[in-house]
Amino acid sequence: MIKVCKKWNIPLVEDAAEAIGSEYYSRPIGSFGKLGVFSFNGNKIVTSGGGGAIVTNDVELGIKAKHLTTTAKVPHPYEYVHDEIGYNFRMPNLNAALACAQLEQLNSFIENKRSLAQQYNSFFKSKGICFRTELPKTKANYWLMCVELENKKESESFLKETNENGVMTRPIWQLIFKSSLYSGFQKDEQINALYLEDRIVNIPSSVR
Ligand SMILES: Cc1ncc(COP(=O)(O)O)c(C=O)c1O
Repeated sequence: MIKVCKKWNIPLVEDAAEAIGSEYYSRPIGSFGKLGVFSFNGNKIVTSGGGGAIVTNDVELGIKAKHLTTTAKVPHPYEYVHDEIGYNFRMPNLNAALACAQLEQLNSFIENKRSLAQQYNSFFKSKGICFRTELPKTKANYWLMCVELENKKESESFLKETNENGVMTRPIWQLIFKSSLYSGFQKDEQINALYLEDRIVNIPSSVR
């Protein structure tokens, strides 16, 4: 992706919404693009109740993002002038305080997640079920942990069995091209995506 963007001079924006704390070749996810975006929504490893963060090494771009997300108000001691279409995307102080407190605990959250992932890996191995682990040269934050069942029938019975016994599991997200919104859009056979959609089940993945 980076090579393609470089070749065609396309700015890369990295959607790292779920990936805070993860690494690729020992480099933090979110640092590969012109800018990266993290989500601090309630279901993420670090939450501020909602919202997120934009990260960039490009100071000018950072200033631009700050300006646009604070209603594009031209800095002035008392005049309210907006020099372009802006958005009230600033994070309220209360949420920001929560985000700071959570970020301070990020390492311990990830340690807990990685220890849970190890326990899951040995448990499911003993049951002959594939627990998805991180790939070589990567460090996963194990935000959402999942198992891969043999086929759709097996994943459906796994979902039924676990939820009937009070263990909240759910299938991986439905593929976007299946949504009526995108049904007419160009796509290829999606062989791998369809294969995984039938088999991947998300399992409880708390940081505690
Ligand atoms: C890959 C990805 N992008 C973007 C979003 C949207 O983030 P938010 O929930 O903070 O709006 C999510 C949310 O789960 C996500 O998983």
